[in-house]
Amino acid sequence: MSSTPKHVAIIMDGNGRWAQQRGLPRLAGHEAGSKSIERCVQACLDTGVQYLTLYAFSSENWKRPALEVNGLMLLLENFLNQKRDEMVREGIRLHHIGRIHELPSVCQRKLREAMEATASNTKLHFTLALSYSGRTEILDAVQSLACDAAAGKLDPNAITAEVFESRLNTAGIPDPDLLIRTSGEMRISNFLLWQLSYTEIHVTKKFWPEFDREDFLAALEDYKSRSRRFGGV
Ligand code: FPP
Repeated sequence: MSSTPKHVAIIMDGNGRWAQQRGLPRLAGHEAGSKSIERCVQACLDTGVQYLTLYAFSSENWKRPALEVNGLMLLLENFLNQKRDEMVREGIRLHHIGRIHELPSVCQRKLREAMEATASNTKLHFTLALSYSGRTEILDAVQSLACDAAAGKLDPNAITAEVFESRLNTAGIPDPDLLIRTSGEMRISNFLLWQLSYTEIHVTKKFWPEFDREDFLAALEDYKSRSRRFGGV
């Protein structure tokens, strides 16, 4: 049996369908989804989960209508404005993964400011995946290793799993123990492809905006019932 997971990763899915069911614009679903983030962060603080990683915006999400993309960026900006001081107070350290340079400059600045302000915190490592794609992350790591090898700075035979991991966006962050996906879809959707190799998966039919503290605690209980063998016996 397992104990409380050290690292929980979440694919926050179903914002659009939640809004559609209520006759609301999709952005209303994303706005309600921001409240679910607050509930999960609090639940992590209360239960001792040390790492929380959220798939907030994928590389593929840029293909959505400009109105939705701009609205999501504004939500991110507002979230960082409103939550920065609270994160500092609560011992939360903010990280990001993904191609941050692709975000609007105001979001990049707010992220940098919040990361600097929370840099000495250790209670909860809170990572936002933004303009993130697992395949791109792996390709970027491979390119950086290949460049070093071609320049004679790295022996190709010395490329171990640890060396490879040190080139990923998640360097220094342990692999997720538990992946939660809302809205019932059974997919990884290009999220943390390397890191999820041995992660336990919990899928709930609930849409992300309705995912509450009880649902989070139920996912932790489900995780505790799993026997993790990492390919062994
Ligand atoms: C997936 O639902 C969700 C997203 C693409 C965005 C997630 C963003 C938030 C929860 C809020 C903004 C983030 C921060 C950090 C404040 P979907 O729209 O794909 O749902 P659907 O499959 O029902 O259409």
